[in-house]
Amino acid sequence: MNPVSVVIIGAGPSGLLLGQLLHKAGIETMILEQRTPDYVLSRIRAGVLEQGTVNLMREAGCGARMDKEGIVHHGTGIMANGVLHRIDFQTLVGKSVMVYGQTEVTRDLMEARQASGAPTLYEAEHVELLDLEQDQPRVRFHHQGQVKEISCDFIAGCDGFHGVSRRSIPETILKTYERVYPFGWLGILADTPPVDEELIYINDDRGFALCSMRSPTRSRYYLQCGLDENIDAWSDDKFWEHLKARLPDEHQNRLVTGPSIEKSIAPLRSFVAEPMRYGRLFLAGDAAHIVPPTGAKGLNLAASDVYYLWQALSEFYQRGSSHGIEHYADRALARVWKAERFSWWMTMLLHNFPDMSPFETKMLRAERDYLFSSQAAMTALAENYVGLPY
Ligand code: APR
Ligand code: PHB
Repeated sequence: MNPVSVVIIGAGPSGLLLGQLLHKAGIETMILEQRTPDYVLSRIRAGVLEQGTVNLMREAGCGARMDKEGIVHHGTGIMANGVLHRIDFQTLVGKSVMVYGQTEVTRDLMEARQASGAPTLYEAEHVELLDLEQDQPRVRFHHQGQVKEISCDFIAGCDGFHGVSRRSIPETILKTYERVYPFGWLGILADTPPVDEELIYINDDRGFALCSMRSPTRSRYYLQCGLDENIDAWSDDKFWEHLKARLPDEHQNRLVTGPSIEKSIAPLRSFVAEPMRYGRLFLAGDAAHIVPPTGAKGLNLAASDVYYLWQALSEFYQRGSSHGIEHYADRALARVWKAERFSWWMTMLLHNFPDMSPFETKMLRAERDYLFSSQAAMTALAENYVGLPY
């Protein structure tokens, strides 16, 4: 195969967004994806975009449907200690977020990639990354029954938490940091109108709940559940009953229930891998880090990694400078760790931890009391939720 400038491993949001931005910068790429397009689109993921992510989608020429169908939110509800509060992003920090499902982000990026004519090989299996410390690394893979190999200048590892890229960094160099939470999120998708115009995060004695949405006619709800829960033990009726019990009083009669079109349990973890660069390999998105979804940072962190890598590679090819490349990992990790902190803090704030001591339980109750009594504390939450600057 003819060499390209950048081989991107993975056609999720990270890989597709990077591919689109590099293509528009005139940089030749090849995307290798192990699954089919339908499989990639079938994954149900979160749906809150920071302004930085919105701007990047527009910069990539993929913002039209998002701007038409996305819902701008100027605040969010948080219910704690029995009281429903509103964090007013616009008043506190003068910014907002966009509600637009990750599936739609991925669909828009996929369609743009196809329209660009830049190559994406789906069902590319057994990907191996070779000669990462050389100036011309190679990628070997199986595709349509043949073993193929492509050389390039750089490899972008956008292949998610279970991908091959992070595993290609020698164990003597890679350092990982992780916390697995002692509960999961039981999520349901239903074609019912959302219970409120904005999201509502809930801490209740029975556990965390989240009321979200995909559109004015499609709702997304989550309940904190035990890690040993069996999804088959959760009928739709049981889900709605448990959700209703955790809702603010004024919302309980507004909840519209209906048949689930998707229902699943996801574990929660915080995870960071350092460094995010090894030789000519750069990690971006879930390949390098995972956040608990409480802070809605997963897709948005992938976007900021992609921004830094797009800037670095453009600088290399257009101005012959390696400054951005040399500083990519440090720049990306500086923002990653701040988003990890916020996601961990929101998770601690809003969930019930089974093995928490009475003192720690008191500390978290005080944290919630302080948050809603302090403009400074709510401003800090708001500036993290809408997205810290790149
Ligand atoms: N070879 C080729 N492709 C691979 C390999 C491999 N060895 N391993 C994984 N992939 C593909 C997956 O099939 C997937 O399509 O890489 C893609 C990675 O996509 P994501 O897991 O969605 O990760 P990313 O693009 O970084 O997006 C991060 O997705 O998981 C959510 O919460 C997360 O919203 C965040 C976003
Ligand atoms: C979602 O809509 O799936 C969603 C929204 C906000 C979160 C997590 C998930 O914090």
